Amino acid sequence: MNRGCLSRPRPTRLTSARLRGVIVTIDGVAASGKSSVASGVARALGIPYVSSGLLYRAVTLLALERGLTPPTAPALLELLAEHPPELRPLPQGNRVSVGPGPDGEQRDLTDAAHTGAVDAGVSAVARLPEIRQWVNDRLRALPPPFVAEGRDMGTAVFPQAAAKFFLTASARVRAQRRVLERQDDVDKIEAALRARDEHDAAQSRPAQGAQVIDTGTLDLNGVIQAVLSGIEGRR
Ligand code: DC
Repeated sequence: MNRGCLSRPRPTRLTSARLRGVIVTIDGVAASGKSSVASGVARALGIPYVSSGLLYRAVTLLALERGLTPPTAPALLELLAEHPPELRPLPQGNRVSVGPGPDGEQRDLTDAAHTGAVDAGVSAVARLPEIRQWVNDRLRALPPPFVAEGRDMGTAVFPQAAAKFFLTASARVRAQRRVLERQDDVDKIEAALRARDEHDAAQSRPAQGAQVIDTGTLDLNGVIQAVLSGIEGRR
């Protein structure tokens, strides 16, 4: 999926009245383009998007900073009670922060949550049922309408969603995309993605009734349009 050529999405026939209370879920494998697609779809609909992975990443970053390796559920829950990360689904992109620190300020964790160390550690954190529950409680407290992206948005978190999608692409195609974001070797990224696919497999599968979209042959705008058409077909 070529991210470089995002043209303005075709206007949608969905009005804000028809979107009231609506949740759209976009799940998929790592680096399948979920965030870019969810962001584009949300912008076309004029509603926020919610990145569930960013909350898992923030928890992982805090655990690494605290030296919790391997992370255990009781230690993590204690850390989260003291320093709960807060997800802000802003129209220009999701941010996650924690605080206030000694200076009384919130600390933004968003950039630091996208390093190789967090990539490598996040599956071990996301595998813990107590942490999944903690994340899911925060997601369910957000006021709809929104587009939620992750692994289990359509299956476990928002089974009542109005429209559900699941994005796939081969590991090679995903590695070639990610190499543009991370300074690393494409073979190494592909191997890491395959390992993460295996670790995430338990919670990463299409929901019943989800439309599965292979993003390998489409550009970003093509995937966004496919999702918008799928939503219009269901409303
Ligand atoms: O989408 P992402 O790569 O930012 O997600 C980071 C990790 O969080 C990913 O390895 C799997 C996990 N995750 C999850 O288990 N469930 C979700 N709903 C979202 C992400």
